[in-house]
Amino acid sequence: MMMDSLSISKSPMLGDGMTFHPGPLCGELDVPGDKSISHRALIAGAFGGALLRITNLNPGRDVRATREALIALGVRIAADGRETTVRGGALREPAGVLDCMNSGSTARMLLGVCAGAGVHAGFDGDRSLRQRPMEPVAAQLRAFGARIDTTEGHLPVKCRGTPEIQTRRFILLSPSAQVKSALLFAGLFAGVPVRVDGDRGSRAHTERLLRYLGLAVEWDGRSITLAPGSGRQSRESRIEVAGDFSAAAFFITAAAVTPRSSIVIRRAGVNPTRTGLLDVLREMGARIELRNERSVSGEPVADIGVTYAPLHATAVGPELALRAIDEIPLIAIAAAFADGSTTISGIGELRTKESDRIAAIERLLQAVSIEAQVQTAGLTIRGGKPSPPQATIATDDDHRIAMAGAVLGCAAGPLTIDSGQSVDVSFPGFAQALETLQSERV
Ligand code: S3P
Repeated sequence: MMMDSLSISKSPMLGDGMTFHPGPLCGELDVPGDKSISHRALIAGAFGGALLRITNLNPGRDVRATREALIALGVRIAADGRETTVRGGALREPAGVLDCMNSGSTARMLLGVCAGAGVHAGFDGDRSLRQRPMEPVAAQLRAFGARIDTTEGHLPVKCRGTPEIQTRRFILLSPSAQVKSALLFAGLFAGVPVRVDGDRGSRAHTERLLRYLGLAVEWDGRSITLAPGSGRQSRESRIEVAGDFSAAAFFITAAAVTPRSSIVIRRAGVNPTRTGLLDVLREMGARIELRNERSVSGEPVADIGVTYAPLHATAVGPELALRAIDEIPLIAIAAAFADGSTTISGIGELRTKESDRIAAIERLLQAVSIEAQVQTAGLTIRGGKPSPPQATIATDDDHRIAMAGAVLGCAAGPLTIDSGQSVDVSFPGFAQALETLQSERV
């Protein structure tokens, strides 16, 4: 390995602003544990009285929000650096409001837990989370029997458990894995069987995890049935969390658009409900190889090799977009470097993520002089030669937009973002990991 001059620098004028410089990515790397699986592992550990040992838990702020909220609900959680242990039991009413910080998964899935467990709790979050819709999950949990009061459809929210279970059969009203999981956790903690229909193939981590822990769960991408009552409650179990595909995605895309790049990401989760980005990039001509495919605690993982190759445009429809829902900004960046016009449709949900991500994508592309037509729920991007931006790019404190900015910087930098602090939500150490790959030469 040969060290270059640093490719990432703190901007002297911008407080926590960061500048990303162009340069190929080479070498191998591990990414943090999967954020989605980490939330679910902590919640699953809170159920029943047995000990659950979790390794490779995601170290970000979102998962910390779930951890602290569960502790406030009476769950015993201890961490010794490598391993986190969780011992559940009866949940109790928390002394204060549960602070979900920036984490939609925490708010929505723990609403399901409290509804099922019959616990009274208040939920709140930061400025961004207070703007995100809570009505879709609240409405479905009300049908279950819970009393849930939102603030005009948003946080703060009050949940008053579920004394008498009403509906146990649901039609998913939004294509959301968080809402689906809230309903499954409601059934689990209430100890009643539930069936959820109308899934469109959203991420299936809750299903896989509960099955791995010995619960009776069936699913086919459209319907899920969960019959609690059997399972892990009496047995100590272990979960090793797979590497986060959505974290790997930044490096995969950066290597795919930056000439002379060649990287391997070790032990990344490749659950097919998450890997839409790989299908899109391969369709665009990217050179991507999965090696050493295996299963870790019920989830498929692999080492993902990516070598730069020229890209061409593609069309991404709603089903594929759902399997890449957190990677749409990266698909847009790949499209910016591709030959021809790429269309992405069925992504209206992106307007209510940690920021309005469709508007954020437009800002990123405009900054590098790439033309994008924006519709309410879609995008058309004319690929070309992105050029270094003249001005600092606003990230709206959205971690995935900050890291997408870094990816764009690898091939079209130097590029400065207004703040890099948000990346701690899912990927503390992201900038250092990128710097390591940019400083290696094969
Ligand atoms: C998640 C589901 C998705 C995703 C989010 C994590 C999950 O959200 O965007 O980052 O862990 O279930 P929706 O369920 O709102 O689509």
